[in-house]
Amino acid sequence: MSDHMTSDEFRRHGHEMIEWIARYMEEVERYPVRSRAQPGDIFRALPPAPPDTGEPFEDVMRDVERILMPGITHWQSPNFFAYFPANSSGSGILGELLSAGLGVQGMSWLTSPACTELEMRVLDWCVELLDLPRAFLSGAGTGSGAGTHAGGGVIQDSASSATLCAILAARERALDGLGGADQSGLPRGAAARKLVAYASTESHSSVLKGMRIAGFDDTQLRQIAVDDTFAMRADRLAEAIQDDTRAGRIPFFVCATVGTTSSNAMDPLAAISEVLRLTALARQAPGHASAWLHVDAAMSGTAAVCPEFRGMHNGLEHADSYCFNPHKWMFTNFDCDCFFVRDREWLVRALAIEPEYLRTGASGVVNYRDWQIPLGRRFRSLKLWFVLRHYGVRGLQRRIREHVALAQEFASWVDASAEWELLAPHPLNLVCFAHRDGNERTRAILEAVNASGGLFATHTVLGPGAAGSAGRFAIRLCVGQTYTQRSHVEAAWTAFRQAADAPAES
Ligand SMILES: Cc1ncc(COP(=O)(O)O)c(C=O)c1O
Repeated sequence: MSDHMTSDEFRRHGHEMIEWIARYMEEVERYPVRSRAQPGDIFRALPPAPPDTGEPFEDVMRDVERILMPGITHWQSPNFFAYFPANSSGSGILGELLSAGLGVQGMSWLTSPACTELEMRVLDWCVELLDLPRAFLSGAGTGSGAGTHAGGGVIQDSASSATLCAILAARERALDGLGGADQSGLPRGAAARKLVAYASTESHSSVLKGMRIAGFDDTQLRQIAVDDTFAMRADRLAEAIQDDTRAGRIPFFVCATVGTTSSNAMDPLAAISEVLRLTALARQAPGHASAWLHVDAAMSGTAAVCPEFRGMHNGLEHADSYCFNPHKWMFTNFDCDCFFVRDREWLVRALAIEPEYLRTGASGVVNYRDWQIPLGRRFRSLKLWFVLRHYGVRGLQRRIREHVALAQEFASWVDASAEWELLAPHPLNLVCFAHRDGNERTRAILEAVNASGGLFATHTVLGPGAAGSAGRFAIRLCVGQTYTQRSHVEAAWTAFRQAADAPAES
């Protein structure tokens, strides 16, 4: 008897697995959305050591249901309104399955030309889909080495990795502008210690994390104040850059956010890029004087499939890099972040190392291992390709418009209510709101609603209050799960109002 699963067994269990997933999709609404497991429950229920001899597939699946399912928080429930969506779809899941079935490791063009070239093509499609600057197109066959000065897109595992790569590319460009002052090797030399980066106080934590991983001190990231819409103040950015320049420091990186995690604020890209242009001129620095502008549109970028939401990208033509996550709002299961650069040279210079055992002799090709942190890479473009071909542009537009309309309707109910209020602008699919009785009451309502299991929403704290008091505790309702419909959003509103009406527990 073979230890391996035979192809007949695979066929049988594969059909069973697809059936299991299809049933899960049909029934997911019946589960409490947030897992009720207590810390350690799942760990304790699992045996401390692997089995000595192989077990039947059926036994494994029984434990999936018995042990794991109670520990699942159902991100694919239409009543999931927490954090941000990590939605999926039948077409994306099947693309993922095919990727596993082919088992390709696409580190170099040669290790599977289709893996590289489909990714290039699909990322170019995304430039068309979101109407991104054409400088981000890869233009097949332009080469991946330094000196090409061509743009291009690459799939990263996450927006966090995209931001880290952008920081590394920006550092490369800044140090090059100083005449290679950092040739002394790692860790950073004196030149790198002068570099400073900027992001708003509302930017994602991955910016600070990326700076740390890149070897910078926390003090090398300036946190720029936001206005009353929670968007970065371009005037404050200009002041910070001028102060740093006067002190002999070198502004090298700015991260602007299109759709902040907390409240969906839109940093003003056009004003920010104008600040970068003017401050670079004023510095009269040699070489690449302007700081690198990276735009993080992790969730909200997807909205640009609809022309009416593309205003948030005004000024993007000046950005050096951009990312958005199809694994958040574009029906492509985790992980899939699309990262674009205007000039691939800096990314490749920062990340390319070619030991003898990786040399392939293929020239004029893209080796995506040089565009990311790890060496190995999965065939992620398959699932994105499947999704784009299944929905088509119009299908995606329909779904995104639907989600935005639902969030807008929810906001209108909040706005019309005497007991509740909106706490931030709601340009797309995220609504931040609170009970007028204040923070503690709002927090208690959210906890009661989440404990009921009927839906899951999360919170944020927005802005400092008057006279230095704490900020406002806001419930965030984010619409974006694949199967969320009006009935689910209506039920959520009812649940919040009922929890507010229920007598407080003494
Ligand atoms: C604006 C923004 N940037 C970055 C991230 C991080 O995303 P990822 O999990 O893909 O690293 C998020 C997710 O919350 C986000 O909202």
